[in-house]
Amino acid sequence: MKIGIGSDHGGFELKEYIKEYLKEEGIEYVDYGTNSLDSVDYPDYGLKLSKGVVSGEVDKGIAICGTGIGISITCNKVKGIRCALCSDTYSARMSVEHNNANILALGGRVIGMDLAVEIVSTWLKAQFQGGRHERRINKISNIEG
Ligand code: RB5
Repeated sequence: MKIGIGSDHGGFELKEYIKEYLKEEGIEYVDYGTNSLDSVDYPDYGLKLSKGVVSGEVDKGIAICGTGIGISITCNKVKGIRCALCSDTYSARMSVEHNNANILALGGRVIGMDLAVEIVSTWLKAQFQGGRHERRINKISNIEG
């Protein structure tokens, strides 16, 4: 499994922290930037990451901005992306089991770094349950056209 990770300046420090976790776990990743605390625009990084996921360059993505809101809105504009903004492990697990989320969004200025890592760990281990949830996801895809 290869993970894509991207952030703006508001999520940069958490992105670097999560990269250390991924390295420790031996999980391969692609870093779509940003690469410093200099102010940038979160849609640029949400779009790069989302393109990486829909193209299959990476299997799943982690998107981070200050609140997680702007970058999650951005990612959800890209056809094929189901991005879930999570601040707790239950939502993270359910976002995969029920919603088959392919991008996890986090707020770098909202949650602590260690909670974020627990959320990532939970999200990566979760499995989509299919069944009635597949039908509902297909209805979301139909809205995309
Ligand atoms: C940047 O200051 C901030 O607006 C951004 O990181 C994010 O929180 C937007 O939703």
